[in-house]
Amino acid sequence: MSDRTIEERIEKVLFSEQAIHARTHELGTRIAQDYGPGGCARDTQGRPPILVCVLHGALVFMADLVRQIPTEIEYDFICVSSYGNGTSPGAVSLIKDLERPIKGRDVLIVEDIIDTGYTIDYLTRGFAARDPASIRVCTLINKVVRRETSVEVDYVGFRLEEDTFIVGYGMDYAELYRNLPYIGLLKPEYTR
Ligand code: PRP
Repeated sequence: MSDRTIEERIEKVLFSEQAIHARTHELGTRIAQDYGPGGCARDTQGRPPILVCVLHGALVFMADLVRQIPTEIEYDFICVSSYGNGTSPGAVSLIKDLERPIKGRDVLIVEDIIDTGYTIDYLTRGFAARDPASIRVCTLINKVVRRETSVEVDYVGFRLEEDTFIVGYGMDYAELYRNLPYIGLLKPEYTR
């Protein structure tokens, strides 16, 4: 096992802990307002929105985001895996489903990153078939350069213009670096 810390393997910090915290606070405040009176909620029984964390990447963002929402919410988890390749681009499979029904509920999907858009497309289509009152999407990072589907994103933390591979704050390289408190680029020698 290497004795180097994971921080030493980072070439450049793209989004600092402070920047992520500040942006997450803004998003949480906006989400609370939007789902408040006269807002976007469509649940006829007035139940709180269900935030759906897309495992595993969104775990860290989700944990911080929900604590920045000062109004009632519920949350649940789903786990999907993308295994797109040359012959089946964008193929996504369900590893773990939601635990409760979303029929008639306001659903807010929480992602760490939207890249090609295939995962969020799969989730929104699948959820729409369960007849929710509404579906919205929140992502910390909107990486637009490799987008292959048309997806509507309601809440964006940061837009990433470059086609760079980022790690940290939930995002991994070979399952590592999810526990970095910020988002950055790996030194090239650690991506081989
Ligand atoms: C990442 C990320 C999104 C998805 C986005 O998950 O968390 O769910 O990829 O990519 P897309 O827009 O190209 O579909 P990943 O499959 O790496 O699994 P993880 O969340 O467990 O890291």
